[in-house]
Amino acid sequence: MSKQFDVVVIGAGPGGYIAAIRAAQLGFSVACVDAWENEKGGPAPGGTCTNVGCIPSKALLQSSEHFEHAGHAFKEHGIDVAGLSLNLPQMLKRKNTVVKQNNDGILFLFKKNKVTFFHGRAAFAGAATADGYPLTISAPANETINAKQVIIATGSNARALPGAEFDEKLILSNTGALAIEGVPAKLGVIGAGVIGLEMGSVWRRLGSEVTVLEGLPVFLGAVDEQIAKEAGKLFAKQGLNINLGCKIGTITKGANNVTVAYDNAKGEAQTAVFDKLIISIGRTPNTDGLAADKVGLKLDERGFVAVDDDCKTNLPGVWAVGDVVRGPMLAHKAEEEGVAVAERMAGQHGHTNFNTIPWVIYTSPEIAWVGRTEQQLKADGVAYKAGTFPFLANGRARALGDTSGMVKFLADATTDEILGVHIIGPMASELISEAVVAMEFKASAEDIARICHAHPSLSEATKEAALAIDKRTLNF
Ligand code: FAD
Ligand code: NAI
Repeated sequence: MSKQFDVVVIGAGPGGYIAAIRAAQLGFSVACVDAWENEKGGPAPGGTCTNVGCIPSKALLQSSEHFEHAGHAFKEHGIDVAGLSLNLPQMLKRKNTVVKQNNDGILFLFKKNKVTFFHGRAAFAGAATADGYPLTISAPANETINAKQVIIATGSNARALPGAEFDEKLILSNTGALAIEGVPAKLGVIGAGVIGLEMGSVWRRLGSEVTVLEGLPVFLGAVDEQIAKEAGKLFAKQGLNINLGCKIGTITKGANNVTVAYDNAKGEAQTAVFDKLIISIGRTPNTDGLAADKVGLKLDERGFVAVDDDCKTNLPGVWAVGDVVRGPMLAHKAEEEGVAVAERMAGQHGHTNFNTIPWVIYTSPEIAWVGRTEQQLKADGVAYKAGTFPFLANGRARALGDTSGMVKFLADATTDEILGVHIIGPMASELISEAVVAMEFKASAEDIARICHAHPSLSEATKEAALAIDKRTLNF
């Protein structure tokens, strides 16, 4: 007889493994099925995020930043580093170790929470019966199981450019971009989005000449314009060669290089030859191999699993979360949806607030924001007040030797409610949390301005930006 579970989660990325753990905490019998394999063919739960996304990219960003600091920034601190050299195999090995620690951590958490883990690919085997949905799981698990309720958390894949399929040797998705075995002299990147900027930064710091070709005429269109402008200036100064308004033509592979033909913003025909080419032009939802058609699971026009605000699909008892459904493709968004769905299944009122999901780009300086940008407020016709404070005037930033960027507050002109906070600067990824909490509690800029912030700390720049709303900065 098939094994029977209250809840089966398909996919053990941040959406799936967190949903499985929360459902188990709420008393359901839970299984989680994940297909990801490590190099030995063993299980590697954690999805894109753990294996070829958030975690390995941040490991390489950290290592490459250390390398760059040892080469330049340490000197200013009075530390002379002689004979500096790059040990790329060790850097990649460390990254792989960090990934494995996270894979193992998830397997441990499954055991701790009594989640049954199956390594293999799950597919719907047919319509629901009295036992629930029958699901097949491929090798190595080779099982058929039944699920009263199913959570689809199958994530996303890198989008390829037509005619330039990923081979992960010359034409790289995020997977190949995180595992280049020798620093390419000339690295091309198509798409100046989050992956393009993070991966471009890693390889530039390690010595590549990086050229980024972006289709849109504006840089970081989703980011507050003032912050994006500042970022553009800083990245150019670092040597990232970012070209906007490019129309990509044919991409031709040679034995050891790739040639990209494109029209620049002026419409002039250009060709560029790269040792490696990263294509980072967005991601597509992954519903491959689910046999969604067998059960009539509805997808939307872009191939995402169609869900309502509560992550319910068109099938009773089938839910979907994370990158495979609408909304930002972020690990923490996937996690919040996973928790909310588990709680809804238990009759609770799980909630994901899309207005307070923080965004972070882990470049140097980091860029982080929550809420609306100034251009969105203008477009929405909202009367607002703005306040900014530069890290140049922050004592801790000066002590760190990292004074680039600013904090920017946007607040409602009448009520003073915080509508958006935008940061470019050191540790922006950590600083943004205060703004997220404030916005969740519908705080005013004045609330932040009146809270005592430790001195000297980068967070004082947040307080000062809130003070700047009423032109009351104390240190600028
Ligand atoms: P995924 O993490 O993609 O997991 C889906 C899992 O389901 C995979 O393990 C897959 O093998 C499995 N699966 C698919 N189909 C089946 C099936 N039929 N049966 C069994 N298993 C199946 N987000 C951030 O918030 N912060 C970051 O810093 C960040 N950095 C990133 C860097 C890069 C280079 C990339 C590519 C992405 C990054 N992201 C980041 C985005 C983040 O990785 C995703 O938003 C997140 O992984 C989505 O989680 P998920 O659970 O929906 O899907
Ligand atoms: P993205 O959506 O961030 O950026 C894609 C870029 O490619 C855009 O600027 C777009 O205009 C451009 N583009 C699209 N088609 C093009 C074409 N034909 N020619 C030239 N340019 C083109 O997507 P990216 O960088 O691939 O990342 C995918 C997702 O992964 C992100 O949206 C994000 O949600 C997630 N991610 C999150 C990270 C984080 O939170 N720090 C880090 C990396 C990825």
